Amino acid sequence: MAETKTIALTINGRDRKVAAPANATLLETLRELGYFEVKSGCEKGDCGACAVLVDGEAIDSCLALTWTVAGRAVTTVAGLSLGGAKHPLIEAFEKSGAVQCGYCTPGLIVAAQSMLKDTPEPDDDDIRLGLSGNLCRCTGYTKVFDAVRDAAAVLRGAESQA
Ligand code: FES
Ligand code: FES
Repeated sequence: MAETKTIALTINGRDRKVAAPANATLLETLRELGYFEVKSGCEKGDCGACAVLVDGEAIDSCLALTWTVAGRAVTTVAGLSLGGAKHPLIEAFEKSGAVQCGYCTPGLIVAAQSMLKDTPEPDDDDIRLGLSGNLCRCTGYTKVFDAVRDAAAVLRGAESQA
């Protein structure tokens, strides 16, 4: 039986103390805590459905052991909209028709957010690279790309008014 220990971390802006066995993945821990917006797909790093931000960078939570995120800030798609207004990426995905079954959507949005942080004005290659770890079986990606471009423009506008 794997050793269990309690680690401190932040999840969606909230300080948490979480008991997890040494072999628990971050995906397992988050879903056990009720963060069901983090989806479980392949559980081997292929599909991106489980992506979350750790200190602002997207990672596949199925590949990270929970103990390795001690002291760090974890953000799920639900944590992007904290503070009231819907996050522009979520708004754009809904408006552009980039959500069909929706299983891939939380991971795509998290990956897009991570990419836009470093590349606020992405071209198609930037978007392709940024979302290359995320599979979608429904949309054909065209509307996903539209959504990311739209959200990027909104975020740049918000930035220039700040
Ligand atoms: S569930 Fe993590 S990459 Fe597929
Ligand atoms: S919307 Fe169904 S997998 Fe992407």
